Amino acid sequence: MKYDLTKLTIDEKISLLVGANSMTTSDANGKVRPVQMCDGPLGLRTGPKHPATPKTVDPTTGETIPVSPVAMPATNVLANTWDPTLTFSLAAAIADDCLDHQRDLLLAPGVNIKRTPVCGRNFEYFSEDPFLTGTLARAYIQGVQSKGVGTSLKHFCANNAEYDRQAISSEVDERTLREIYLTPFEIALEAKPWTVMCSYNRVGGIYASENPWTLKEILRDEFGFDGIIISDWGATHNATLAAKATLDLTMPYQKEHLDNLRAAYSAGILTEEEINERAQKVLLLSEKAAAPKHSPTTTPKERHEIAVKAAKAGIVLLKNEDGILPLQKNKIFVCGKNALLGAPTGGGSSAVWTTFKPTPLHQLLQEKLGSDAFVSYLPCHDRGAIGSAILNAPAVYKAAYGADVTLLCVGNDGKLEFEGGDREYLRLPKVYEDLIDTTAKYTKNLVVLVYAGSAIDMSAWIDKVKGVVFVGFAGEGANEALAALLTGEANFSGKLSETFPLDLNDTPVGAMKGNNGFVERYLEGVFVGYRHYDEQAKEVLFPFGHGLSYSQFVYSDLTVEKTGKLAYEVSYTVTNLSSVDGEEISEVYVRDVFASVSRPPKELKGYSKDLIKAGESKRIHIPLNARSFAFYSVALKKWTVENGDFEILVGPSSRILPLQTKLKIEDAPHPYSEP
Ligand code: GLC
Repeated sequence: MKYDLTKLTIDEKISLLVGANSMTTSDANGKVRPVQMCDGPLGLRTGPKHPATPKTVDPTTGETIPVSPVAMPATNVLANTWDPTLTFSLAAAIADDCLDHQRDLLLAPGVNIKRTPVCGRNFEYFSEDPFLTGTLARAYIQGVQSKGVGTSLKHFCANNAEYDRQAISSEVDERTLREIYLTPFEIALEAKPWTVMCSYNRVGGIYASENPWTLKEILRDEFGFDGIIISDWGATHNATLAAKATLDLTMPYQKEHLDNLRAAYSAGILTEEEINERAQKVLLLSEKAAAPKHSPTTTPKERHEIAVKAAKAGIVLLKNEDGILPLQKNKIFVCGKNALLGAPTGGGSSAVWTTFKPTPLHQLLQEKLGSDAFVSYLPCHDRGAIGSAILNAPAVYKAAYGADVTLLCVGNDGKLEFEGGDREYLRLPKVYEDLIDTTAKYTKNLVVLVYAGSAIDMSAWIDKVKGVVFVGFAGEGANEALAALLTGEANFSGKLSETFPLDLNDTPVGAMKGNNGFVERYLEGVFVGYRHYDEQAKEVLFPFGHGLSYSQFVYSDLTVEKTGKLAYEVSYTVTNLSSVDGEEISEVYVRDVFASVSRPPKELKGYSKDLIKAGESKRIHIPLNARSFAFYSVALKKWTVENGDFEILVGPSSRILPLQTKLKIEDAPHPYSEP
């Protein structure tokens, strides 16, 4: 060890348990290397005036200018790629920004499950499904840490809405907590994140920052996490109780926390041994941060290209009636400020300052389609003025009437989706719905590009348009990605990582108004997302796993081979019948036909993304293990597989599963036997 605890005084050791300021750990009177932290999941959050911001000379003006990090697609768009390899690359690129900006630890990824589509931070999170969330987060952590930069797996745990987040108590039954809300952490921990960040809320009445059950019994003892547990910023209420629950580091600096710890030590409430245990962990963090860092292997421009690539893979083609896309070389009208300025992002600590100036979408479309096409543009309202009347409405409708295809850029921004608040509704702002309604009176060839951080209820207008593209908060590369996708230069491959319901009232939770004041009861149990809509046999607007392509894929030849005790290999063939090369995300679900507990009709237990060239086929193999069939038995206090009938379902989305087969499991250990 580089740092020797015995060389520190008790007060220096106590100082390690609280941050030195907003983003740095203590240096224990100059004896320990402080750790420089930074947000967030969408890229490095910093600013032009930060002392570590690199500078460069502007080739056109000759002036010295700050170099900004890259604003990557939001996590909701990254999740729509279903691509761990791409996730690794994106995260590694963010880590290169951290290296250039001298940061040691990135406060990401966020793995909170999208229990409700109205949660204001959903754009920072992956999915409604724990398996998809965990496997992508694992790749994200591996990507960042491959550069010697640390991560913070957050927010632990059951932090699934923003209202009252500092006080609310998440009341979740243990089986649901483990199967839905802890599984993403369990899977992501395989990547050994340097830190785990506790959440603001209470879990079962006790703050997550001082909850011995979740922090010590589950996270440390059961999951085997041997890294550092840090608080969310301001989430510690009693630093001594937090330390006793094995939280190591309270962020940010607040004198009251140091006073609390010193007083507890002086009163004998907090022992030196307890302080040493926590301080040793913080020293471990400094050790890791002090280790030789890798040099960045990407340039800022290459990082931007990764942002474009991730946007191309994460933007989802939801509807394409009459093959209105890809665009042809004719008259195209583009409307909306997002075309000019690029994709907005959500509000809060994950927002990334970038100096990147996107080329307007209409200009890129004109360039790609060439002089046989005529692409025009009009704004429809001022950026950030969502809700204001449509600018120059008559001109907008006239342009739409005269065009062969009209693209409307609509959606939310950081004023509607943000940290610290939840949406009141799922629909687009009324001004946008009115724009779509009226424009549809002048043209049937309407394509709506939707920018948002989570599901949008499009039921009011979906039948009035031929095309819908979910752009999400697709980062600084959004316009380049869209221009390639809309013209067919690139093919869509993204699929939804969350259900798009038909109505807020169809969701398991409805509007977030809480229950009994400061308690949020998770009454729906494990039936979250598609698990809920399937169990209720409820129609949805677009199902979990849905996404269209310019290619046409068919599925065949499903086989399931036993490869060991409670181990199987699912194999199937995907064929591209079209003349367009494409990447297909295939999805494998498991159904427990007769269980002793209520289980969802199916659960995602495997997926694969494969490039399948025009006219070609690919044989795909997905492993299943005991956990693929298990539920958590609270009575037996363990994950349990019950012998009996199961079904394996394979297809392009959770609601289109053309390949199905039965499977009888007979070698599961008797539930009452030893684990
Ligand atoms: C915020 C967020 C957390 C972020 C931290 C530091 O409140 O909850 O995700 O990393 O504080 O900004």
